[in-house]
Amino acid sequence: MSIDVSGFKQGQKAMWTAGDYPEVARRIEAVGRYVAERADASSGIELLDVATGSGNVAIPAALAGAKVTGLDLTPKLLEAARARASEAGVEIELIEGDAEELPFADDSFDRVTSCFGVMFAPRQGVAAQELTRVARPGARVVVAAWTPEGLIGRTFATSARHMPPPPPELKPAVMWGSEEHVHGLFEGSGAELSFELSSITFTGDSPEAWLARDEKILGPAVMAKAGLEPQGRYAELRQDMLALYDEVNEAEDGSFRTEAEYLLTIATLPA
Ligand SMILES: C[S@@+](CC[C@H](N)C(=O)[O-])C[C@H]1O[C@@H](n2cnc3c(N)ncnc32)[C@H](O)[C@@H]1O
Repeated sequence: MSIDVSGFKQGQKAMWTAGDYPEVARRIEAVGRYVAERADASSGIELLDVATGSGNVAIPAALAGAKVTGLDLTPKLLEAARARASEAGVEIELIEGDAEELPFADDSFDRVTSCFGVMFAPRQGVAAQELTRVARPGARVVVAAWTPEGLIGRTFATSARHMPPPPPELKPAVMWGSEEHVHGLFEGSGAELSFELSSITFTGDSPEAWLARDEKILGPAVMAKAGLEPQGRYAELRQDMLALYDEVNEAEDGSFRTEAEYLLTIATLPA
């Protein structure tokens, strides 16, 4: 079995169109700001944000003075990014496109970023090569990805246990959160890699309320429910997800508070 690349990307587009991703993005705004900061977004810098979504990196980078291009597969999210940019009073070039086939010449940008975005491209090596191809000599590529062991890695694994198995060539997206794997992805680029392991805190009224909200706004959760419920198989996934949220919950007053771990990769290309 091999990967149906184009079918997979159609699925990604449908998944990130479902629910209300701009609302989800509010939970991780701080990571977007941090990626822009570690990319040293500032005046005179040309920055490409790959899989920009509703602009969590692109907007702070533009506010910091960088000339920003944001690219994404999902038109609905580009519209949201456009509205947010206009509200923030910044100009960003927003382009519909694919991380595995960036519509830019070699050596086009001083910085290339991706926050929980490029990790969803199905051919990870191809996507990594594209990030470095469009980056100029001496440029910095900054990628944030959820780790396999962290909360989001565990939610993906929980969900996957209830779905048909993917083809073996399709590496889990969270492999972008493993240092060893990322070394392999950038092999041959000559980039010098450094890593930061970090986390973001999620808080809610209760584990149950967090899950109920996911079912409404988080594309992957919306799609899993829509796919499994008609077959009478959703209740089991829901139970497993709730058990996970209960297990990771650090709050002792019935509310929900947990850490979601991610890996930040900084790849500096040879000058
Ligand atoms: C979890 S969201 C992250 C969005 C944004 N970077 C943020 O931090 O909020 C994942 C994004 O990846 C985009 N995406 C998935 N596969 C893609 C691909 N092959 N090329 C470009 N964008 C892609 C989706 O459309 C979605 O906007």
